[in-house]
Amino acid sequence: MKLIYFVVCCIPFILNAQHSRIFPQPAALKTNNETFLHKGQLILPQSDAGKHIVTVFHEAFERESGVHIETGPKPTVELIENIDLAGESYLLEVKSKQIRIEYADMNGLLYAFQTLNQWINLPNEIEGVSIMDQPRFSYRGTHLDCSRHFFTIEELKGFIDQMAQLKFNRFHWHLTDDQGWRIEIKKYPLLTEIGAWRDSTVVGHYSRTPRTYEKQRYGGFYTQEEAKGLVKYAQDRGITIIPEIELPGHARAALAAYPSLGCSGEQLPVEGLWGVFDDVFCTQDETITFLKNVLDEVIAIFPSETIHIGGDEVPKVRWKTCSKCQANIKKMGLKDEHELQRYVIETMEQHLRSKGRKIIGWDEILEGGLAANAQVMSWRGTEGGIAAAKAGHQVVMTPTSHCYFDYYQSSHPDEPLAIGGFLPLEKVYHYNPVPTELTKKEQQFIIGAQANLWTEYLPTMDAVEYHTFPRLVAMSEVVWCIEKRPYSEFLPALARYYLPRLKQQGINYSSAFLDVEMLLKPVPNGLELTPHSSLNVQYFSDANKMEGKIERLELERTAQVVHRTFPVTTWYNNIPYRTTNYNFVTHLALGKAVHFETKPSLKYNYNDSLGLTNGIVGALPWRGDQWVGFTEDTIRFSLDLGTLTDISQIELGTLNDPGSWIYRPQTILVEYSTNGKKFKKYSKQAITEDRIKLVKSKKVKVLRFTITTVSEVEQGMPGAGTTPWTFLDELILTR
Ligand code: ACM
Ligand code: ZN
Repeated sequence: MKLIYFVVCCIPFILNAQHSRIFPQPAALKTNNETFLHKGQLILPQSDAGKHIVTVFHEAFERESGVHIETGPKPTVELIENIDLAGESYLLEVKSKQIRIEYADMNGLLYAFQTLNQWINLPNEIEGVSIMDQPRFSYRGTHLDCSRHFFTIEELKGFIDQMAQLKFNRFHWHLTDDQGWRIEIKKYPLLTEIGAWRDSTVVGHYSRTPRTYEKQRYGGFYTQEEAKGLVKYAQDRGITIIPEIELPGHARAALAAYPSLGCSGEQLPVEGLWGVFDDVFCTQDETITFLKNVLDEVIAIFPSETIHIGGDEVPKVRWKTCSKCQANIKKMGLKDEHELQRYVIETMEQHLRSKGRKIIGWDEILEGGLAANAQVMSWRGTEGGIAAAKAGHQVVMTPTSHCYFDYYQSSHPDEPLAIGGFLPLEKVYHYNPVPTELTKKEQQFIIGAQANLWTEYLPTMDAVEYHTFPRLVAMSEVVWCIEKRPYSEFLPALARYYLPRLKQQGINYSSAFLDVEMLLKPVPNGLELTPHSSLNVQYFSDANKMEGKIERLELERTAQVVHRTFPVTTWYNNIPYRTTNYNFVTHLALGKAVHFETKPSLKYNYNDSLGLTNGIVGALPWRGDQWVGFTEDTIRFSLDLGTLTDISQIELGTLNDPGSWIYRPQTILVEYSTNGKKFKKYSKQAITEDRIKLVKSKKVKVLRFTITTVSEVEQGMPGAGTTPWTFLDELILTR
């Protein structure tokens, strides 16, 4: 019998927060009063398991624990396979005479040694302990986009080492996209001769105008031998590589190599801009055969049972005017181009199934139905995952809101350019991959979660690391821990134990979690802001000395816009981290609570009723915490100034960033009242600029706002078919 929930049966193993130096935190850990003297060496049995561990861990133990490991006739570490344990689980017992490891399978054995390496923290001895550990989810993934930017095999090995340390077991390798085809396919050599190279790359954020390009050839690819080598390297560390071959969209690199695979046959370059492009694979037989042939070579390289076939962001523009695609629709009796997309996915699914494999794809593959054993990656939100689980598909949760590590992790102005979005460490940590909308039975279909590293704005491994760490440490506890410790325990333990480890390994992690968080409090004449952190962080106005300690900032309401700047330097462990120049605007609505009749989305609702009146003007490139986000067709809110007040101008910022599915709203109606009961029109107009300015002198007490928005992202655009975001900030009133 498999002891699936064996941890529950082991009540004596109470977790001790004091010993929280292992990441992800083990399910149960109890120290004993014994000590194992290792004297700088551990001897493993001369079995296959022992030899494998020495090969994989020899260097890491030497470097991090200062312990030499080797196999020998008199082992000091006992290794016992126990097939009654739950998959990937292990028991680790350190006593004075011996170290004993029981493991369910190869991953369980590897994880016991990852844990042991983190547990050893003394030169000659190991603290006695009993650890029982098992993962919450069977799929614990990290994705890396190697198309937008290329990373060498050596760099990828380093990335895999980091994943392995945190007990991740799936590496989703994004190998093809519009900007570069990265895997050698012998039958189609031009895919890498032409498709792996682009002549230019857009400079800065792609929404910036005017656009400029760096005109330099950029690219690279992996030979099949190199890819096989990486598969083996990952396998030895308990990680399955899931390759992704994007189809039928994000195909521009392939079309540059073989234009006849597209609908128009037009020769287009490998793309140098980021986004979603109209030219996709045609659905003609020639292209279907090509895709099958590509997948045949891919499955010969990658033993993974599941193969990722993309499926996301497929504009139907070309298919609509392509005679071959239209003939297909007719011949197969399909309703429209969406069903044509289903045909492509279905065909690939059947092909891979005939070879004993399964497909996994982005949640768009659900459109129009899907074969039962196909897995779904829910990325546009949780809805796709919920629908897929209800339909009986296995699901990997990777919603942008909690899993897109290309998003900003701080709104500090010195953060390196990112795609947009806001995903701080704490938000990752609080993620629960199992949507509450699912019944107990449906929840079983959620097999795990994955962090995604898209690399449009991450050109180097240094940049990838900065976005990955420490958020991946938080994600490791999300996917591993059946019961997570509170964030207030995770954060100091991370800072004390894991970050020094990353530093020793030369990993460029971010310390953005030290940035100031300001708690807001409305006061009679304005707003008070108090810096806050879960760590022992201190704040000073002098960047060079621990002087000018900041308890709080005070902002007074003003009749005209006044700009104020406060420098706040964060200090941690007596070392200055960085200075935030807080730029505020003061005005008549500062610190006045807004009543939202239309509730902001939980994803973009920072500072509650003060989100629009906190004195911080939402800036570009956008970070979520500065903006209040909505997904409704009509947004209504009101502002009560408390007393009759003379105003002559109302200003409200909006955001237009179609690449992030954010659209400028369409119309605004403002009404005013002197008593909060009877309202008259102040102004009504179409919104044509990002900053709305309404000018009229009135005496007002209450203002009422009605804003209409764009209700659906049009076909061909990123996020097509979804309800776009409307972002607002700051609501500025002046006399
Ligand atoms: C995706 O981010 N386009 C899956
Ligand atoms: Zn076509």
